[in-house]
Amino acid sequence: MNYKYANRIERVKPSAIRELLKLGADPSIISFGGGYPDPEIFPIEKLRKVYDQVLQEEGRLALQYTGTEGLMALREKLVNRVKQIGISCCVDNLFIIQGGQQGLDLAAKAFIDKGDIIITENPTFLGALAAFNPYEPEYVGVSMDEDGMRMDELEAALQKHPNVKLIYTVPEFQNPTGVTMSLERRKTLVELANKHNVVIVEDSPYREIRYEGEDLPSIKSFDTEGRVIHIGSFSKILSPGLRLGWLIADRALAEKLSLLKMASDTQNSTLNMYAVNRFMDMYDLDEHIVHIRETYKHKKELMFQTLHEAFPKSVAYTNPQGGLFTWLTFPQHIDTKILMQERSLPIAKVGYVPGESFFPNIQEKNHCRINYSYMSEENIIRGITNLGKLVQEIC
Ligand SMILES: Cc1ncc(COP(=O)(O)O)c(C=O)c1O
Repeated sequence: MNYKYANRIERVKPSAIRELLKLGADPSIISFGGGYPDPEIFPIEKLRKVYDQVLQEEGRLALQYTGTEGLMALREKLVNRVKQIGISCCVDNLFIIQGGQQGLDLAAKAFIDKGDIIITENPTFLGALAAFNPYEPEYVGVSMDEDGMRMDELEAALQKHPNVKLIYTVPEFQNPTGVTMSLERRKTLVELANKHNVVIVEDSPYREIRYEGEDLPSIKSFDTEGRVIHIGSFSKILSPGLRLGWLIADRALAEKLSLLKMASDTQNSTLNMYAVNRFMDMYDLDEHIVHIRETYKHKKELMFQTLHEAFPKSVAYTNPQGGLFTWLTFPQHIDTKILMQERSLPIAKVGYVPGESFFPNIQEKNHCRINYSYMSEENIIRGITNLGKLVQEIC
């Protein structure tokens, strides 16, 4: 069939990550490619009890439709929770979404007409580009250093392009680089956005997975004009299979965004919202997060020790204080996609995500993203050692 697609479909293409997740399913491959949490951490027994109780005691409600904004009790809990990161809001500002990913789609749907500009970090989260692309934006990528997005470049970009609609940032332990935006830059970012009347999308799925250093206030906490959309998620602190996250915005904007959500999926799973709400009543979510942090800290240390031993000095890597990823930079002549296709997968049996797909415009080929949350300790050591041997031969 010769489908007469809408123009936007031109921008909808399979990504390297998709192909890679497929390869990760091959049991002989050690894949550092996906961004999966460690499944050993999922609180399965606790969730089983929670679902049992919900179905027994509130089954008729939990299996029914509910409002688009989501379960009120859960929204109230989240309103209280985000106070810790300096966000003072009420339930009218916060609604439940299908994981952070839906927040990205809603923000682009609300603001982007064809040709409008979205400023992103360079590199940026691949899934955000996938969410934004159908709205046909142009991108301006702003370089990062160890303190996150560079504000001098951001300012120049805002001056040069009057049609910037959104600035998208992952301020903590960014996907893919693992870098965190400094306190000063968070403040400057809001000042620049105020000056140029641009909305900021603050995508914060990793902020609670910090295992070193000090927590920083959210960008939203510096927002006095209602221009920051803050997006959080239960995916990394409880389970991604629940598909639950939250979005916080100025009241009028939150209303528009939730109308878009209603048009797209009506609401989140009532049952899952009841379950997470009850989980937070029955158990200590923060205690669970401490356990996640300890596990990932240990895995990160193991990976870094192995990287240090197995890799040549010519390969640099970021040192994240939290989250799930590190970002490797090879010498200029190495193309990590070719390396993976020709050697790493067939010979070392190791997968990662080649860095090029994380760049919105000019793709740099000598990077890759490595995840350390998903693989077992044994596979972290084996996979990085095997990859290191290959890399030693070519660098
Ligand atoms: C930066 C970032 N934003 C958003 C998401 C989407 O996650 P979810 O929809 O599961 O909350 C991810 C997932 O890996 C991510 O890395």
